[in-house]
Amino acid sequence: MENFEQRHSGERAILVSVSVQQLDDLDAEEFRLLAQSAGAEILEHITVPRNRPDPKFFIGSGKVDEIAEQVQYLEAELVIFDHSLSPAQERNLERILKCRVIDRTGLILDIFALRARTHEGKLQVELAQLKHLSTRLIRGFTGNLEQQKGGIGLRGPGESQLETDRRLIRVRITQLKDKLVKVQQTRLQGRAARQKAAIPTISLVGYTNAGKSTLFNILAKSDVYAADQLFATLDPTLRRLEWDGVGTVVLADTVGFVRNLQHDLVESFKATLEETLEATLLLHVIDASSPNMSEQIEAVETVLKEIGADAPVLHVYNKIDISGDAAKIIYRTAELPERVYVSAHSGQGLELLSEAVQQCLMGQLQHFDLTLKPAYGKLRNQLYTLNVIESERYEENGDLHLTVCIAPHKLEQIIKQAHLPLDEILGNKASIFQRPLEEFETQHSPL
Ligand code: GTP
Repeated sequence: MENFEQRHSGERAILVSVSVQQLDDLDAEEFRLLAQSAGAEILEHITVPRNRPDPKFFIGSGKVDEIAEQVQYLEAELVIFDHSLSPAQERNLERILKCRVIDRTGLILDIFALRARTHEGKLQVELAQLKHLSTRLIRGFTGNLEQQKGGIGLRGPGESQLETDRRLIRVRITQLKDKLVKVQQTRLQGRAARQKAAIPTISLVGYTNAGKSTLFNILAKSDVYAADQLFATLDPTLRRLEWDGVGTVVLADTVGFVRNLQHDLVESFKATLEETLEATLLLHVIDASSPNMSEQIEAVETVLKEIGADAPVLHVYNKIDISGDAAKIIYRTAELPERVYVSAHSGQGLELLSEAVQQCLMGQLQHFDLTLKPAYGKLRNQLYTLNVIESERYEENGDLHLTVCIAPHKLEQIIKQAHLPLDEILGNKASIFQRPLEEFETQHSPL
């Protein structure tokens, strides 16, 4: 076993899930898809019933022996656990199983490494992988490193990093962080310029494989990589485009979401999803043909909440060519669409999508003329930081006249938080905020 070779058909892997009750179908399916996305050939998926993890092996030692027999019998090269393992558990397992063991974090990071395309995405993945690897420098089973090169869990910075000492890894981590700061600064400048010009950013989010890249390609008439694989997109890909009926927008394609994203990975995700956090509107793309649709919607909403995205959301039910739904818009209120049904493949419903997006955006950015007394300088600073000021002019009496382009609910929120009088600042436009607050919130809170 020590000299196993890399087979072209994919690494021969045994999957292990631990569950108190029977394994949830969706979890099982997702785990298998993740493993396949990383290039694994799945030999067997073993479910281990257990309440509490064993500190030494995560699972009981009897079960470890059983899996070891399977590893030998099936000639497995790799055992993947659908959980986070401590470095010690990983080592102990490798010693008994006599093959490599990776955990869920290692698996997802591996897929990230395969999929990252932009400079920033690659740096982010390398950083996350090095952090994950730095605690796992001593392995219980190393096998033949040369032959393992490029295997699952070993891509990106690579096995050579394992032979390097921790000090070198720390130096590399510092270098990567510096580089990332520079790349992010450049991106922030681009975003600031966009906000200054009041160009709305629309971000496509959704469960992995929902069809985000396909939709993005059609809208942007570009050729972003679309593949029937999980995480085909890692980096946010931005396109400025003239959208018929909508106007100039910046469209951002983002990484696919999955369930049960561990906390350390949410951090890596956050960085790739910055455009999403700043977006004017989120298009949540949903695979309407998936039998697990509602669980997938929930998984995406949980991640959005976790990363703190609070922009309004339009649900885009995609793949109606195979789900059998009709192209239509479903409204939340008389003017605010909640869902739109489309097919990125057949093009059905795409004109309804433009209409719905336009309606959502109309409720989003508006021009306001504000009058600020000299004492309200702090409010001006806040608006300046948000990059929403279009023009400003001082009166002789020291009052400041500002024209801003901002979502009404955001403006109301800032003025109220500063405890300033709405009517004095907004004049008769203040009346749009005089409705009962609940009504306002139902219209503008994320769907
Ligand atoms: P990730 O990058 O993994 O997050 O995936 P994604 O959401 O970007 O999905 P992608 O656009 O790569 O599409 C996934 C698969 O669904 C591909 O095989 C597409 O061809 C297919 N697909 C996308 N839109 C439609 C559609 O409207 N109808 C049908 N039948 N298939 C579609």
